Amino acid sequence: MAERIVVLTGAGISAESGLATFRDPDGVWARHDPAELATPEAFARNPGLVRAFYSARRAACLEARPNAAHAALARLEARWPGDVLLVTQNVDDLHERAGSRRLIHMHGELLRSRCAACGHAWPDRGPLTDAQRCPACGAAAVRPDVVWFGEIPRRMEEIEAALQACDLFVAIGTSAQVWPAAGFVAQARAAGARTLELNLEPSAAAQMFDELRQGPATRLVPAWVAELLDG
Ligand code: OAD
Repeated sequence: MAERIVVLTGAGISAESGLATFRDPDGVWARHDPAELATPEAFARNPGLVRAFYSARRAACLEARPNAAHAALARLEARWPGDVLLVTQNVDDLHERAGSRRLIHMHGELLRSRCAACGHAWPDRGPLTDAQRCPACGAAAVRPDVVWFGEIPRRMEEIEAALQACDLFVAIGTSAQVWPAAGFVAQARAAGARTLELNLEPSAAAQMFDELRQGPATRLVPAWVAELLDG
């Protein structure tokens, strides 16, 4: 029986909650240029545009509800006798609203703001505006507390230690086109873990997995969790 499980999720797990993925034909990066919206340089050039983009994503996140796949992962964490670590690339809060507690947001959190001047970060559900000031230092440099291209993902040491020690690695709803998350399957494999991909279509890393299951997350994830917990 697999005791230590690491689960990596991506935008595909929130798609059926109504939040767009990035690289599908109707995805966020099909409609917008990431170089204009999701880099420190874009924010320096045009902070108003970046703030408006993330304000709209905040509003969509607040409207969305966790789905059966988020709920199944929370159930796994609550019932599994071994260790479960959930690592998400998603900046929405649907995993925590479904009840997941052992969770790493490696790309940050949409419902938090951060001061680009002093680094102070705080919960913030409202729109990001150009008039907003940092509550700690007063600078007009408020940005979403997310990781942009060219920035370093969060809590990588913890993630790498968990990958090194895991017996089972499962990737759900991610295209495996963004590093370092795209490399997690190889790290887990090298450490001797069994690997499973649950995705609508084979990802760019599909050939690295021991097993692939194709379909929507709301069907595949509850079925996989039931298999583990109920035999
Ligand atoms: P992508 O949009 O790149 O990939 C989403 C994956 O989910 C694709 O492989 C889809 O086939 C799959 N998918 C879509 N709907 C699904 C469903 N209902 N059930 C299961 N799978 C489904 O999103 P990510 O891999 O999460 O980073 O993207 C990684 C990072 O790129 C994001 O965190 C974000 C983005 O740029 C930053 O902004 C830094």
